[in-house]
Amino acid sequence: MERTPIDIPALQQKKANREKITMLTAYDAAWARLLDEAGVDVILVGDSAANVVLGYRDTLPVTMDEMILLTRAVSRGTRYAMVLGDMPFLSYQSDVRDAIVNAGRFLKEGGAVGVKIEGGAAMAETVRALVRAGIPTVGHLGLTPQTASLIGGYRCQGRTAHAARRILDDALLLQDAGAFLIVLECVPDRVAEEIARRCKVPIIGIGAGAACDGQVLVLHDMLGMGRGGHSPRFVHRFENLGDRVVAAVQRYGADVRAGTFPGPDHVFAIPDDEWDAFTKDGKA
Ligand code: KIV
Repeated sequence: MERTPIDIPALQQKKANREKITMLTAYDAAWARLLDEAGVDVILVGDSAANVVLGYRDTLPVTMDEMILLTRAVSRGTRYAMVLGDMPFLSYQSDVRDAIVNAGRFLKEGGAVGVKIEGGAAMAETVRALVRAGIPTVGHLGLTPQTASLIGGYRCQGRTAHAARRILDDALLLQDAGAFLIVLECVPDRVAEEIARRCKVPIIGIGAGAACDGQVLVLHDMLGMGRGGHSPRFVHRFENLGDRVVAAVQRYGADVRAGTFPGPDHVFAIPDDEWDAFTKDGKA
């Protein structure tokens, strides 16, 4: 069957058909191309870029300009997956007008299909305004890294009936406001399952169990490319690329030092007559 770009109705159809949605983060064109070729449905240019590729300690310092640059690169490398831009800290919280202007940049400059913002009830009006402005919007509930200091750090959310109820209510509010997808991070699997059952929009889990309508992971975590950073318990390492890259670079270093790279296959020839002329004119 001919592959067509994933759109919002296609994601809704997947939920209706109980077909899982796959989402991964990417931050440049090269990785986006690989993810697209591998058939991932959604590529999120997460604000995890802050720690994963820009070297910040957490997600708070990353700027709109940095996120737009990365989103544009990902969009260039993507043909079929849906590209979403993650709105950085304080690009949407202060007022709705700012939120619309900044979100619009992800679409106009970054080539994204939509944006993701963190937060529940307090963000419902912003989601409504973004959608009214024509900007497809994704919610993010549970562990919300941009407000980690207010929710007790990077820990599981929704472990009491009251807290679980609040996440469910938030999900329903975001859905009513027009969010077309909701990311649910680090909540108990039974709570996530109930939320996925009660919501019409797809629920994408990360550390939220297998009953969600889809899953998302940070690419560098699932490929074992992080170095020294904390890896959350819910991450499964599908590959240990970090070790493989280090080994390959060590082999390169060894070959360069030994003079075995570049070899005969990697060099360009000069025709003999040109060589003779070059060496005979006394200048070589
Ligand atoms: O920034 C990010 O990568 C995210 C995902 C973990 C959902 O928000």
